[in-house]
Amino acid sequence: MNNERFDFDEIIDRRHTHSVKWDFCPSDDVIPMWVADMDFKAAPCIIDALKERLEHGVFGYANVPEEFYDSIINWFSRRHNWTIDRNWIEYTTGVVPAINAVLRAITMPGENVVVLTPVYNCFFVCIQSNNCKVVEVPLIYKEDYSYSINFDALDKALSDENTHTLLFCNPHNPAGRLWSKDEMLKVNNLCLKHGVTVISDEIHCEMVMPGHEYTPFATISQEAQDNCITCGSPSKSFNIAGLQAAFIVSNNLDIKARINKALIDNQVCSINPFGLEAFMAAYNYGENWILQFNEYIDGNFRLMRDMMNKELPEFHFTPIEGTYLAWIDVTPTGMTSTEVTKKILDVAKVLVNDGTMYGKSGDGFIRVNLATQRSVVEEATRRIINAFK
Ligand SMILES: Cc1ncc(COP(=O)(O)O)c(C=O)c1O
Repeated sequence: MNNERFDFDEIIDRRHTHSVKWDFCPSDDVIPMWVADMDFKAAPCIIDALKERLEHGVFGYANVPEEFYDSIINWFSRRHNWTIDRNWIEYTTGVVPAINAVLRAITMPGENVVVLTPVYNCFFVCIQSNNCKVVEVPLIYKEDYSYSINFDALDKALSDENTHTLLFCNPHNPAGRLWSKDEMLKVNNLCLKHGVTVISDEIHCEMVMPGHEYTPFATISQEAQDNCITCGSPSKSFNIAGLQAAFIVSNNLDIKARINKALIDNQVCSINPFGLEAFMAAYNYGENWILQFNEYIDGNFRLMRDMMNKELPEFHFTPIEGTYLAWIDVTPTGMTSTEVTKKILDVAKVLVNDGTMYGKSGDGFIRVNLATQRSVVEEATRRIINAFK
């Protein structure tokens, strides 16, 4: 790893660049802190790889080479102590397409799929578009504003004879948890007890705040590895989500063949040439960048939380262990989260996500994307404080 330092303070104007995050704003004076992408340039190693690909000038269909598999295998073995066999890996265009294909492969229409809520909103869409039923098991919201798993409620939901799948999120968006080995062992034991397969969405796994640790679900035990299907990508952590490349890991070759068929049936079985290069560059050379990024996000979180704690104590921050998303309890304002979100947009001119998107237990919360320059976080925080004071 080299010692290069990266400048996360550099402002990059993303207005009118065909960005979902920025173009969706109703006016140019709005600061977007909603959808999960970053306002930083990608790591130089990624930009260099893309430049080289661009210079070649021919952009036909890409063939996924052995180097792609090696980049995943080496990254997870080096960084996360997870030994992945080449034959366990499938590729696709994104983690949502991955989840869709896995659900198509392993569920039957009408089945239940359990999720721990509040959770990433597309989980609901994926489950419903596969004609399955969402079963929400709310996380326990604790006095220190952090979350834990309600194992009794999970046990009950998994015991339903119509339930064969748990769609798990590790790290958890939006609750900011990096699940511990013990917690995941308990989850897996309950799943084994009831014959339930785990799909673990680990897209946020590189965003780990200092002092915390990410553990892949598949590494907690051999039984867990045998019982889970992992979906991941460097896209979220390296700001290359628009380039659309992801992977799926299952050591069950029968299930993997069914997933492969579902990827073909869903027509999400190729990767574009730019996504491919960016993916490999991130995993091969991006370690130094992501470590500095995580420190920067930790600083952004502290800045916003500390300013708000001082001047707007009715906003309660869930501790952030992973992801770059602040999850804030706004119930003490006496307003609904929909009202708070609207006031933040109309008065503070900041666009955040209403917690109701993430399931019933998200009501009363807002989600704020911190992956932007420190000065922007400061300005947005000041505006929100002024709007509510
Ligand atoms: C938990 C989770 N999974 C998947 C995605 C999206 O993945 P993709 O863009 O690769 O489909 C997101 C995006 O925010 C996410 O938070």
